[in-house]
Amino acid sequence: MPVININNLTFGYDGSERTLFDNVTISLDTSWKLALAGRNGRGKTTFFKLLRGELPFSGTITGVPETVIFPMNELPDNEEWRVRKELNLMGADPDIIWRPLDTLSGGERTKLMLANLFASDGIYPLIDEPTNHLDRQGREAVSEYLSSKEGFILISHDRAFLDRCTDHTLVITKTGLELVAAPYSVWWENNEQRMENERARNDQLKKEMSSIDAAMKKNAQWSSKAEGYKNRSKAPSKVAEDHFRRAYEAEKARKLMSAAKNLEKRNALKLEEKQSLLKDMERTETLKITGTEHHNKTPVILKGITLKRYGETIVSGFDLTIERGNKISIQGKNGCGKSTLIKYLAGSGETEGITAEGNIYIAPGLKISYVGQDTSSLSGSLYDIADERGADKTVFSTILIKMGFTKEMLYRDVNALSLGQKKFVMIALSLCEHADLYLWDEPLNYIDVYMRQEIERLVKCNNVTMLFVEHDRTFSEAVADREVIM
Ligand SMILES: Nc1ncnc2c1ncn2[C@@H]1O[C@H](COP(=O)(O)OP(=O)(O)OP(=O)(O)O)[C@@H](O)[C@H]1O
Ligand SMILES: [Mg+2]
Repeated sequence: MPVININNLTFGYDGSERTLFDNVTISLDTSWKLALAGRNGRGKTTFFKLLRGELPFSGTITGVPETVIFPMNELPDNEEWRVRKELNLMGADPDIIWRPLDTLSGGERTKLMLANLFASDGIYPLIDEPTNHLDRQGREAVSEYLSSKEGFILISHDRAFLDRCTDHTLVITKTGLELVAAPYSVWWENNEQRMENERARNDQLKKEMSSIDAAMKKNAQWSSKAEGYKNRSKAPSKVAEDHFRRAYEAEKARKLMSAAKNLEKRNALKLEEKQSLLKDMERTETLKITGTEHHNKTPVILKGITLKRYGETIVSGFDLTIERGNKISIQGKNGCGKSTLIKYLAGSGETEGITAEGNIYIAPGLKISYVGQDTSSLSGSLYDIADERGADKTVFSTILIKMGFTKEMLYRDVNALSLGQKKFVMIALSLCEHADLYLWDEPLNYIDVYMRQEIERLVKCNNVTMLFVEHDRTFSEAVADREVIM
């Protein structure tokens, strides 16, 4: 099997202070089912672009077969029977090949693109986050499908998904690339253990730091004493035996000075060691959400409603009551109308031809904050986006910085952000808004595991009213006090 050889690869985007790849040398066998993992913004999507030669870099990359990236803008020209066969293998309806792409649900589109990826001969698939629009069954079907294939690179933040269909793992960490011949969880567990040890050593070092601090103070005393001796030894003296005393005092001063210098060096080394231990540690800052409380205790009541899109019924006979303080998880298969409902409630349905009939009560003046499913609605500079939403720029920037943005990134066009960073922007906008009701449609799409945990904590520990759709079971089980099945 061909091997991709990467030698001394160095790359950073123009105008960005971050070097994403710093002198990387690594070999990748193209027969591996290779997981590519790492936190948002570490350079996974960029790595695909580098393999494809789409960006200028220093170093060499050789042995890359012809590649196709998922998601693609256009479907490759494949024989029909081949695509149908792949769709069958995925448990999808093969007739979707006849439908225009924009009428397919997110899950169906994903399956059709993957089927096309594997229906072409001699193509090395580079798969960038296929899980986002898939429901649970969809994820299982696709991961099983991929596990029967050979030779691809797969980016995903879904650990269970990666585990089911990959045998090698390449992780972009804070300090470089790590490659293991094992599924992602194995790397994760090892890494957690390593971080645990680092944390323990860090605590130990902190204790040592306080004794160092005490030592420093003593050191300062020594130094001043030594200075004193030195000054005294410089003082003029008229008697001969003074010569002897002066020599003695100078020697004592020299010794004290050198002891002080050594101690200083040792302390500096300890500090450096402490810093290098912390270098690898992944961190997330604490975020805040401050909801408001509408005076109506039951701000939303829907009874037997029918939701339509351009006149076509999507849902009928649907009931939903939202009480103040509820955190409700909306569940249901791909295409059952979850996003349609959320868009309708958010008041943004009209542009997409969404209408509702039935018994509908939405409390007047209800302040709603909406996070949409994908990031395609974002365009332009971050500050313009904040302006449009009426968000306080200082609060907005503070939240983004807590999410790991650098100052330089705040001035960028949203197109120069990673997928996860775009979703951060949407969540940050919502966190700026003090709302009676938060409507979050798949808030964790594109978001890495560390940040998922922080967002989970954020929603769980704060008193807000929220209706959300999220396929990440860990999140919905931890956060929701009620599940509504559509
Ligand atoms: N055109 C660009 N100009 C400048 N910086 C960019 C550009 N595109 C991406 N970046 C930055 O490069 C870094 C890596 O981006 P990339 O899209 O490769 O990340 P990723 O690992 O795929 O993240 P995610 O998991 O969020 O998709 C990010 O910090 C991003 O902001
Ligand atoms: Mg990416």
